[in-house]
Amino acid sequence: MKRTAILISGGGSNMVKLVQAMVGDHPARAVIVGSNDPQAGGLAKARDMGVTTFAIDHRAYQGDRAAFEAALLEPLLAAQPDILCLAGFMRILTPAFVQRFQGRMLNIHPSLLPKYPGLHTHQRAIDAGDAEAGATVHLVTPELDAGPLLGQARVPVLPDDTADTLAARVLVQEHLLYPQVLRRFASGDQTPVLLNAA
Ligand code: GRF
Repeated sequence: MKRTAILISGGGSNMVKLVQAMVGDHPARAVIVGSNDPQAGGLAKARDMGVTTFAIDHRAYQGDRAAFEAALLEPLLAAQPDILCLAGFMRILTPAFVQRFQGRMLNIHPSLLPKYPGLHTHQRAIDAGDAEAGATVHLVTPELDAGPLLGQARVPVLPDDTADTLAARVLVQEHLLYPQVLRRFASGDQTPVLLNAA
């Protein structure tokens, strides 16, 4: 059984789907949910599902990334995770942190990587006139939003789309994609999950 930790920064809708999926014959179980924001709405959702939570306020470390990450690692490592999932986690992690989990650390990013690493992905897809957008689950490497692809879901970009309408369409697919990727990854299979592939 793969012990799985999840890091969030906000509402944690992806985290909820992952925790809800890790039941029955699923080869993983959620062991802890952490956040860089003590006010993250997802923390209460995790507790309601019976998952232990913790929060380390990154603002208490004023940009001292190493100190923040040392504080983050303490409760995280105490949970002895086999897999670490970033789900709406909005802090950039140093290579030193990533290397501790490399090969067993996943992230979901709301674009069809390698297109649009970083922020404002939906507006950038609209501005570029892309016909498609979507989300990618990838293994985390020290380079931001650049690791090996574990899954991708595509959605159409519609003519009257705003960043918000596109984000909502993509989020629906994220909630289908991430649990499928985690199940496959936890069973030792890194074959990419491709949803709505052209
Ligand atoms: C989602 O768009 C996800 O792609 C990105 O963060 C957003 C919020 O995710 N990583 P969640 O609702 O907090 O899971």
